[in-house]
Amino acid sequence: MQQEKFTNQHTHWHEPTVFRADRERQNRHRSVILWFTGLSGAGKSTLAHALEDELHRRGARTFVLDGDNVRKGLCKDLGFTDADRTENIRRIGELAKLMLDAGLIVMTAFISPFRKDRALARGLVAPGDFIEIYCNAGLDVCEARDPKGLYKKARAGQIPEFTGISSPYEAPEMPELDVVTGSKPVEECVVQIIEFLRSRDYLER
Ligand code: ADX
Repeated sequence: MQQEKFTNQHTHWHEPTVFRADRERQNRHRSVILWFTGLSGAGKSTLAHALEDELHRRGARTFVLDGDNVRKGLCKDLGFTDADRTENIRRIGELAKLMLDAGLIVMTAFISPFRKDRALARGLVAPGDFIEIYCNAGLDVCEARDPKGLYKKARAGQIPEFTGISSPYEAPEMPELDVVTGSKPVEECVVQIIEFLRSRDYLER
């Protein structure tokens, strides 16, 4: 019988001896995925890093997975077609799941424009392990900010399939948190998220 080239049928799951619960006890906080989503320029990375600063200062173990950075390494073979974005988010979902098991508060800052892809990432982990944070800033605000000059290029037809211009963004319908990054200062957004995490016992009160 012809052997499939990329088969994984002969792989076996290896049970760890140090479990997530052991790491969480040592860290003195729960691990969780904070999934930031929003348009380019909505402030996902800025907010994720500002939140990480605050959590790190409080002694939490954290990591930020950032769209532009991950696309230079793990996902450098991917572009911006719908299929490539789906694969991008699938990989990030799996990576975030590993980081969850590693005991971290992992923050992902990707446009992640499609609801079905975010639902897939959510479905990889248990309820409560995935908190969707909508970085709520309208296209008008993001385009006025245009921190990387990409909207200008997209409007000039130089970037195909640009989110919000020539490729869709599907806003979350029921995110755990709706943070109005379009009008609120980043410090206030950080406080809103910290308060949420404390109220749900992800962090000590
Ligand atoms: S996602 O759609 O697959 O989630 P991701 O967050 O990884 O996107 O990457 C988005 C970043 O890539 C943007 O912030 C921007 O800097 C850059 N970018 C380059 N081309 C595009 C494009 N066509 N649409 C959106 N962002 C783009």
